[in-house]
Amino acid sequence: MIQIGILKSSNKTPLGVTPNILKKWPADTISFLIEKQAGLLAHFSDDQYLTEGANLVSRTEVLEQVNLLVISDALTDQDLEILPIDTLIVGLLNPHNNKDFTAKLKKRNQKAFALEMLPRTSIAQSMDVLSAMASLAGYKSVILAANHFAGYFPMLTTAAGTVPPAKVLILGAGVAGLQAIATAKRLGAVVEAFDVRKVVKEEVESLGAKFIMVEGMQSDSDTGGYAVVQKEEVLAAQRELIHQKVVKADIVVTTASIPGKAAPKLIEGATVEVMKPGAVIIDLAAASGGNCELTKNGGVLNHSGVTIIGDSQLAYSITQEASKLFSVNIYNFITHLLKAGLNTIDFEDEIVKSTFIGKI
Ligand code: NAI
Repeated sequence: MIQIGILKSSNKTPLGVTPNILKKWPADTISFLIEKQAGLLAHFSDDQYLTEGANLVSRTEVLEQVNLLVISDALTDQDLEILPIDTLIVGLLNPHNNKDFTAKLKKRNQKAFALEMLPRTSIAQSMDVLSAMASLAGYKSVILAANHFAGYFPMLTTAAGTVPPAKVLILGAGVAGLQAIATAKRLGAVVEAFDVRKVVKEEVESLGAKFIMVEGMQSDSDTGGYAVVQKEEVLAAQRELIHQKVVKADIVVTTASIPGKAAPKLIEGATVEVMKPGAVIIDLAAASGGNCELTKNGGVLNHSGVTIIGDSQLAYSITQEASKLFSVNIYNFITHLLKAGLNTIDFEDEIVKSTFIGKI
């Protein structure tokens, strides 16, 4: 029997095993050890886990007994002291931004798999937690912006006059950006979007938004779906066009990132100074430095009347749904990882190799 476990987190991070997914796992080969109250922050009770056949135990018991630990938050040194070296770790390891933690795991020779490193292949799609979280974050970014915006989203005609629709600009039309476009459109805004990947033009337009084109962009077709770093003269033209669009926008949602690298700076401080007072910037790339020069990761600030919110973990505020989606990603990943058994992991497999942190 393989024991899979999760711990209670003190942060609002998605849970890798929600009660509703337990029945999907083969009960004859897999059992679950859940730390008591692990589900509370995501609104899942201990009773729900018990009803689905999981065992509720203390943190120490989870750490001592599991064969595979699912995490979405770094483990403490105290946890690592208890955790046997041969226990597998799977989940959100934050390898780009928390290098200390992954270095510790490597040093211990602990076999750990970071889902953030999944290749963007069709077979990996159902395991792709970054896409799942990006969809939720894109939606939430617009809701958050609407909350902070001093104006109104849809056009409104009243006896006292007509309120024009809000102008929303989305920078980066990947998974999060497209969801932000769809949400802003549903709320009645006029939406424009920009991305260095020209292939998204059609998707942007199919959602009813206008795609902003910059001449001379390098193609992204050979990079497996990830954006490429562009030449300086193209970036200058891009900066100028974006400046013109940003100063006219009421809401700007930025989602542009290049995995493992600093986020491209798309909005300069000087641009913010000439934006409309009451405008809002939501920067989803805050964790890797932000797309706006002024963004403070995890912070809300007001600059010349413009509200700037830097949050790369917006999806986590929709904790219950984020956990359900993450649990499906985890189910698909572990099923793939353990298809030949706990002790016969295929380290040559592309998905296994890409996510593996450490030495074989
Ligand atoms: P991401 O989070 O890495 O980047 C967000 C967006 O920012 C991307 O569209 C990127 O092109 C854009 N961007 C980067 N630098 C920029 C710049 N300087 N200016 C403007 N925009 C910039 O990307 P995300 O959203 O995770 O995925 C990108 C695409 O990859 C998606 O459209 C999706 O179709 C594909 N994908 C495929 C997967 C699979 O097949 N398993 C999994 C995840 C994504």
